Amino acid sequence: MSAKPLITAEEIDRELAEMGKRITEDYAGKDVLLVGVLRGAFMVMADLARHIHLPCEFDFMAVSSYGASTQTSGVVRILKDLDEEIAGRHVVIVEDIIDSGLTLNYLIKSLKVRKPASLEVAALLLKEGVQRAPLDVKYSAFTVGPEFVVGYGLDYAGRYRNLPYVGVMEP
Ligand code: IMP
Ligand code: MG
Repeated sequence: MSAKPLITAEEIDRELAEMGKRITEDYAGKDVLLVGVLRGAFMVMADLARHIHLPCEFDFMAVSSYGASTQTSGVVRILKDLDEEIAGRHVVIVEDIIDSGLTLNYLIKSLKVRKPASLEVAALLLKEGVQRAPLDVKYSAFTVGPEFVVGYGLDYAGRYRNLPYVGVMEP
C-alpha cells in the first residue's frame, strides 16, 4: 500500500500560515491555550503554533474513536485528559481531521462544562458531507472528499503519520 499525494507540504504550510495569522488577529491582546488532540494533531499543532504570534500555552488530550479500522465506531474514549485547568482561558482545540464530528462534539461538550472564557476549533481537514453532528469549526484549512486520507499526522493502522503531505490510500 502507498499514499498518493493529495495536499502538498507547501499547500499545508501556506494554509496554516493563513490560519495562524487569523488566530493572531482574533486573539490580539489575549493568551491562548492550544489543545491538541493526540495523536493525529501533533504535526498541525507544531506547525500552526509557529504561525501564532501570541503568548501561547500547550496541552494535549488523547482520544480514541477508531481502533485499527477506517470506519468510525461512534464511541469516543478519553485516553488522556488535559493537565491544565481551562476555566477562564481562551482555548483552541487543534484537530487533524473532522469526519463524523463525533469526536469533536464529545470534546466540546466535555470542555465547555469546565467554563473556558472561549472555546474554538482549528482543524486542518474537514471531510465533506459526512459530518453527522452539527459543528461549529471556526478555523479550517482544507475540505476533502469521503476517501480515507493519511499523512501529516494522520494514520492508517498506526502508520503514515510521518508523511510530510496528506495523501489518499491506494492499494
Ligand atoms: P470523527 O469522530 O468521525 O470526526 O473522527 C475524527 C478522528 O478520526 C480524527 O481525529 C482522526 O484521528 C480520525 N480520522 C477520521 N478520518 C480519517 C482519515 O481519513 N484518515 C485518518 N484518520 C481519520
Ligand atoms: Mg486517528
